[in-house]
Amino acid sequence: MKLLILNGPNLNLLGTREPEKYGKKSFEDYFSELQFKFRNIELSFDQTNIEGELIDKIQAANKDFDGIILNAAAYTHTSVGIGDAVAAIDIPVIEVHISNTFSREEFRHKSYISPIAKGIIVGFGLQSYDLAIQSFLNDKND
Ligand code: DQA
Repeated sequence: MKLLILNGPNLNLLGTREPEKYGKKSFEDYFSELQFKFRNIELSFDQTNIEGELIDKIQAANKDFDGIILNAAAYTHTSVGIGDAVAAIDIPVIEVHISNTFSREEFRHKSYISPIAKGIIVGFGLQSYDLAIQSFLNDKND
């Protein structure tokens, strides 16, 4: 199984960015832990701060991966284009968020991705990514 973890804007700053909300670990460190834990599957990770690049990466992943774990960060709440990209591809997308967006500001309650996502995992800290991988693996074993 080949899965892509795709992170959007400002998630390159994990570890130092608002640690009370997003924790003190960099995503690179966490990704190494995930790669070790799930060493039986092919896990890739990519990040961009640019909306159009996220769309390009979602489109490109369609050919190369079995699924995407997508944290589009702030673009989740604003980007019709990213929602359309998720709708345009054939592989399943799980939307994840580190923080519980529903316990935060009203503008974070809206997601252009949720209606098209296979599922949504929100508010478990970095563990949200781990749970998303597990759900792909559980599906595979059905
Ligand atoms: C986030 C939640 C978004 O509202 C915010 O803009 C982020 C991170 C999360 O993972 O909790 O950048 O996607």
